[in-house]
Amino acid sequence: MNSNSFPLSNRRTRLNPHIRNLTKEVTLSVQKLIQPLFVVEGISHKEIIPGLTGVYRETSHSLLKQVENDLEAGIHSFLLFGVPAQKSEKNFNYDFTSQQIFELKKRFGQDIFLSVDVCLCSYTSHGHCGILNDSLDHVMNHESVDALADCALAYANAGADCVAPSDMMDHRVLAIREKLDANKLHQTLLMSYSAKFHSGFYGPFRVAADSAPKGELKIKDRATYQIDPANPSDAYRSSMRDMEEGADILMVKPGLPYLDVIKELTHSIALPWAVYEVSGEYAAIELMAEKNLINRERAHLESWTAFFRAGASMVITYGARDAAAWIKNAEKNI
Ligand code: PBG
Repeated sequence: MNSNSFPLSNRRTRLNPHIRNLTKEVTLSVQKLIQPLFVVEGISHKEIIPGLTGVYRETSHSLLKQVENDLEAGIHSFLLFGVPAQKSEKNFNYDFTSQQIFELKKRFGQDIFLSVDVCLCSYTSHGHCGILNDSLDHVMNHESVDALADCALAYANAGADCVAPSDMMDHRVLAIREKLDANKLHQTLLMSYSAKFHSGFYGPFRVAADSAPKGELKIKDRATYQIDPANPSDAYRSSMRDMEEGADILMVKPGLPYLDVIKELTHSIALPWAVYEVSGEYAAIELMAEKNLINRERAHLESWTAFFRAGASMVITYGARDAAAWIKNAEKNI
């Protein structure tokens, strides 16, 4: 039979750029992307990060310049990671990162939406996301949550639009929300890394944030607080709890290896969802492109499309600052 005589042709809606654009269910936009920023105390020049092309460990000075460039490239939303020089076991000092937040908001005000990662892994001498007990074999929940709430309060007071706890301690969302409320910070958003998995894809980040578990430790990894990759129902329970405790935005992290989780959670929990395309995912594309195995721009756009298709409202990606140019190129080539 002549295939043209079938009543339904899927290829009719693929025939030209106009109809392809009209029938798209996902349209990428820089307004939906968040750019991570690293600012490091005590370095004299911005430093490259192995694997993360186009992303740097910034000085206080270069950070402002970078954000200026990002605004020109159409990016207005950021996720800041502050890396203080002084590491300790407890009684952390949040001044360095708070100062960066203050300077950014003083300079750019409402032009930027500034989320700030709240965690202790860049503060602790051992690199864990919380405070260890005396026998150094457990990350203590209660003590860590107290410190995290203080940290979030310091960042919110400095002017952060949104605080984003990534530590994975139990009930930190409630503690942070109560602390913000008690200090009349009713407008500060709270984005919880609610479905953060114990992933092998965080490698390049830990170099950037100086946060890999280090030294002679009895707990060598984050398995006792991050979610097991084989346990999606834990991600659901943790996200439900964080919604009930007062989170405004929830998150799945990493992205591509967890597309099933993204789809299920975004369709069952009615809050805005962020997806974090983590350092190892981003670096994988960069390394393949470097070896001419794939087209860099296409691969990045395709990954982001997958996140939005699965239900994300926003995507955190190291490539955000290049997105406008890449989207434009893709439109030219359609
Ligand atoms: C800190 C934190 C991590 C990331 C974001 N916040 C790393 C970790 O849990 O070790 C990962 C981001 C990335 O890999 O891009 N707790």
